[in-house]
Amino acid sequence: MKVQFVDLRKQYAPFKEDILAGISRVLDGMQLFLGENVQALEKEFAQFSGAEHGIGVCDGTAALQIILRAMDIGPGDEVITVSHTFIATAEAIVLVGATPVFVDVDPDTYLMDVSQVESKITPRTKAILPVHLYGQTVDMDPLMEIASRHGLRVIEDACQAHGAEYKGRKAGSLGDAAGFSFYYSKNLGAYGEGGFISTNNAELAAKMRKVRDHGSGVRYHHDLIGLNGRLDEIQAVVLRAKLPHLAAWNEKRRANARLYSELLKTVPVTLPIERAGSTPVYHLYVIRAQKRDDLQTFLKEKGVFTGIHYPIPVHLQKSMEFLGYKQGDFPVTERVVTEILSLPMFAELNDDEIKYVADSVREFYS
Ligand SMILES: Cc1ncc(COP(=O)(O)O)c(C=O)c1O
Repeated sequence: MKVQFVDLRKQYAPFKEDILAGISRVLDGMQLFLGENVQALEKEFAQFSGAEHGIGVCDGTAALQIILRAMDIGPGDEVITVSHTFIATAEAIVLVGATPVFVDVDPDTYLMDVSQVESKITPRTKAILPVHLYGQTVDMDPLMEIASRHGLRVIEDACQAHGAEYKGRKAGSLGDAAGFSFYYSKNLGAYGEGGFISTNNAELAAKMRKVRDHGSGVRYHHDLIGLNGRLDEIQAVVLRAKLPHLAAWNEKRRANARLYSELLKTVPVTLPIERAGSTPVYHLYVIRAQKRDDLQTFLKEKGVFTGIHYPIPVHLQKSMEFLGYKQGDFPVTERVVTEILSLPMFAELNDDEIKYVADSVREFYS
């Protein structure tokens, strides 16, 4: 048997006709950017995420940059985030000229250790940027309390958390603004690049809308320094065709996770935990394993494709050397990255495939 890490062809098949017809309509009309599909998606995905305003953008990295820019965060400012994330979280902060300040992660959830945030606040701190990594939400109540006490903005990196819930509220509606990615392998993925910003703040939404389009609200009138962050109509067609199925796909991912956890409970690996009050969407199903690299090689030989998200923490990346961090600064992050392994996870994965993966992991340790 072969089990792909993500199999997009299985998802595409039932939508093929709809998507191709929608793309054909866009090409007939030749309204290629910010047209009726983007506008409709902005309403539909904002509603899905429990937020009042939505802005379609070209990718998740741009979403975070646009939010930061619209909040006037730039040179001399600090943004508190985590090192255990995809590089884009910190990169967006650096790209607007601000400085990422990292805290370690919680050893059980691998998410921002909220208890460490307050000690990193300085007079230069402008915002906190929690990352809902793997589709699990950060413990937002205490974080929002710290932010409000210090007058800081909170930007959710919800790039892996479409539909994830925290105490019954959706990721994307919990902070001042949130960035989503529609990278093709995300729970909701474009066939190319795409991203989204959600917020409940009307004034900020209007400003972000301008920043997305070269700081312009009226053609060739540029009120702010912005960027080219527009979402295109073809991707909006794809995303709108998929969105009505996202809740069911997330439910299936949770069922897949439950089956993995049931089958692996007697295997000597650490399984993902679900904190009370949080409803994850398992963008990734991540175990922690001794002899992780050997296990990954063994699984590959068995036809099971896995991933490591992510092997090098951001504070130890070459591009971030200028920040001055060193090995040993974030012990939990540094340990976790040597042990994590993402098993195949997507909605269309079937029970036989999950059993085969679990049996293969068991076989490695027996
Ligand atoms: C946690 C996180 N932040 C930011 C991004 C950036 O999104 P994009 O690749 O759409 O620019 C991603 C996705 O790749 C991500 O997983």
